[in-house]
Amino acid sequence: PRTTVGIIGAGPAGLLLSHLLHRQGIDSTVLERRSRDHVEHRQRAGILEQGTVDVLRASGAAARMDRQGLEHHGIELRFDRRSHRIDFPSRAGGRSVMVYAQTEVVKDLIALRRQDGGTVLFEAEALSVDGARTEHPSIRYRHQGAEHTLDCAYVVACDGFHGIGRRSVPEGGLTVVERDYPFSWLGILADVPPSCEELIYAHHERGFALHSMRSPRVSRLYLQVDPEDTTGDWPDERIWGELETRLAIDGDWTLRRGPITEKSITPMRSFVSEPMRHGRLFLAGDAAHIVPPTGAKGLNLAVADVTLLAQALTRHQAHGDESGLDAYSETALRRVWRAEHFSYTMTTLLHADPAETAFDRALRLSQLRYLASSAAASASLAENYVGFTED
Ligand code: FAD
Ligand code: DHB
Repeated sequence: PRTTVGIIGAGPAGLLLSHLLHRQGIDSTVLERRSRDHVEHRQRAGILEQGTVDVLRASGAAARMDRQGLEHHGIELRFDRRSHRIDFPSRAGGRSVMVYAQTEVVKDLIALRRQDGGTVLFEAEALSVDGARTEHPSIRYRHQGAEHTLDCAYVVACDGFHGIGRRSVPEGGLTVVERDYPFSWLGILADVPPSCEELIYAHHERGFALHSMRSPRVSRLYLQVDPEDTTGDWPDERIWGELETRLAIDGDWTLRRGPITEKSITPMRSFVSEPMRHGRLFLAGDAAHIVPPTGAKGLNLAVADVTLLAQALTRHQAHGDESGLDAYSETALRRVWRAEHFSYTMTTLLHADPAETAFDRALRLSQLRYLASSAAASASLAENYVGFTED
């Protein structure tokens, strides 16, 4: 088979890229290793920046989001048993965020691609990218027990951190920087109305906790846990007890409990591979960079990457203008590094590091108090949270 843009991975990056290209009259094929059911139910991110919402709306992919998404105008910070609200619109030029789950973005994009006659092959595993430095790159993949080759004009690896796209670049073609954190996140979904109207980011000496939501009836909560922990170490009673302790404030607030329907543990890391291009192979989303989830940036970066890439590929196809493709990596990486810094800052600010000193703890507490009381400090958090771009 043959296509103009061969896309590896049907996560948000790959699906949105395919959709945006279709709107410019460019055909693509998406190869996805897992089943449709699997990618539609994989629990991950939940916060869409204003810029992400704008891209989905402008491309006609926001109908259900506009009906079911929850617009949020701020977050709550909790520490020292007190609660402090950070307002977004007043601090970040009128912008805010949307609570709408990644699973729903993925379902909407798959449905649209189907409706528009797009090709998304599930249970099709890419094995290698060949000829990236030629004008005729290709993807070797396995589908329904047989191996095939997809001939392309361009290949975009949207295949996540563990994908094969980045690994197809020969030794020396990419520079990688990385940082691991000494904790993981335990995430749960619970059939219970959220106990808050806005997200709560809590720092407690026992560790971080986050109260988020999926809908007026479904809560999403996270706990900092030891990286060695498994879900077996965390029976439901222990999870609720720990959330209650870490989210507690003086005064009138209770955490509602309900049946836990999903439970998983995710390690935390920062990772950037530069450049995001090797000849006619481009990397986008988690395939190129990972942020720890505390800043809610991962999905938004993936959307920003493919938005740039769709424009650049369109200009090249339509006018032979290579400038967008040449600028892609540098332009994308400016936003990526802003998000890396913000995610690192939020992570170190809110988690309890087992190796930290009394000095580190005192600095953190001072910074939290500063954020809670200074308009300048909270404006910096707000503008990064809703999505900051230099231009
Ligand atoms: P992905 O969504 O990872 O999609 C990549 C796709 O490629 C997958 O469907 C995969 O099956 C497919 N693939 C991989 N290899 C191959 C292959 N060889 N052939 C074909 N297909 C392949 N962000 C937040 O903001 N908040 C969170 O709470 C949060 N939780 C997360 C939990 C986990 C476990 C993970 C992994 C990420 C989480 N993130 C979170 C980050 C956010 O979900 C990602 O940044 C986002 O999914 C990036 O989208 P993507 O399309 O680049 O990659
Ligand atoms: C969610 C995840 C995040 O990483 C975050 O910072 C906020 C919300 C969520 O899954 O709802």
